[in-house]
Amino acid sequence: MDTKSRIGRLAFGIAALGFLAAAGELRALDNGLARTPPMGWNSWNKFACNVSEDLIKQAADAVVSSGMKDAGYQYIVIDDCWQVDRDAEGNIVADAKRFPSGMKSLADYVHAKGLKFGLYSDAGTATCQNRPGGRGYEFQDARQYAAWGVDYLKYDWCNHSTQDSAASYSIMRDALKKAGRPIVFSLCEWGSTKPWLWAEDVGNLWRATGDILNKWDGTEKWGGMGVVQILDAVDGLQSYAGPGHWNDPDMLEVGNGGMSVTEYRAHFSMWCLLAAPLMAGNDIRKMSADIGGILTNKEVIAIDQDPLGRQGRRVKRSGDLEVWAKQLADGGRAVALLNRTAAEANITVSWTDLGYPEHVQAKVRDLWAHQDLGEKTAAFSASVPSHGVVMVRVEP
Ligand code: GLA
Repeated sequence: MDTKSRIGRLAFGIAALGFLAAAGELRALDNGLARTPPMGWNSWNKFACNVSEDLIKQAADAVVSSGMKDAGYQYIVIDDCWQVDRDAEGNIVADAKRFPSGMKSLADYVHAKGLKFGLYSDAGTATCQNRPGGRGYEFQDARQYAAWGVDYLKYDWCNHSTQDSAASYSIMRDALKKAGRPIVFSLCEWGSTKPWLWAEDVGNLWRATGDILNKWDGTEKWGGMGVVQILDAVDGLQSYAGPGHWNDPDMLEVGNGGMSVTEYRAHFSMWCLLAAPLMAGNDIRKMSADIGGILTNKEVIAIDQDPLGRQGRRVKRSGDLEVWAKQLADGGRAVALLNRTAAEANITVSWTDLGYPEHVQAKVRDLWAHQDLGEKTAAFSASVPSHGVVMVRVEP
């Protein structure tokens, strides 16, 4: 090759790199949001299509009066069924009977409480409840959401026909960016196309599993999964999670009545250990002290919201007795001793399970009893109720 063509090749290479870099910049999700897993409340798990302006206002009031806002819950999200149609110009139309004051006014109400407002739509032609979807209207919808004051968009995957998931979600990502308002983008394609492999620069969170059931253990043919099935499905995905981009094991069922208080405490603990988005899904207007106490346990929430942003994982398993651990920013570990058996059992975590040398002395604090348990060397053991956890913080 002569010098001229070498220079020509080099120049072409540099130009191509520049183009790729520019394209990469355009495509990267740089909205700066969800540096810790988003927290809030979503209407779906308890109310399904029975949503209204009154319900959402009352939910916002209850997030404040129950102490949830003070504990970190922020986003009030209306799931499916708020929308009924498109008008002649293609604008999405909210249900005027259920939301007579309109979405802008409802967002203003939520914002006035110091909270943030979220909506749901779908990347296909219709939502899962057959309301109008976003396909083909992405930029128009994003502008509308921004104008209403939306801060969070959950985007589902029903009725997508032959659409490509990464391409479809990227269009909405770009539309939201163009609309100019910071909006958390929550992908909901149920883990069906392994979003952890492609969504880091597309969404702030992505569902990693099918829909949660209000059950400790069980599956449904349509894809519903109990708490323990979800735990098994998301263990192994920890390397894909981090500030701004989280695996989402679905919204909380805490307080919806299908599990015992012990099981709900374990469900909540494990979601925090997984650095999961914490979207309460119960009727927070009337919850028992037990349920309110679970949802607002600040020591457990601090594990979820730890700034290092690590998703915990299972570090030991002996039959249905398990030890899960999450690395924390201060060098400590959150540890959940999880008993999946039908009887109370003793579970031990060894320091070596946590990556510490055996001889290390570490402070152990029980995050549900709110009690320091003293300094331990080599290991910590506790008796754990059936379908329950003991959750501790270990600090060398
Ligand atoms: C799907 C989602 C749920 C919920 C419903 C609404 O099943 O996974 O979380 O949004 O649709 O129809």
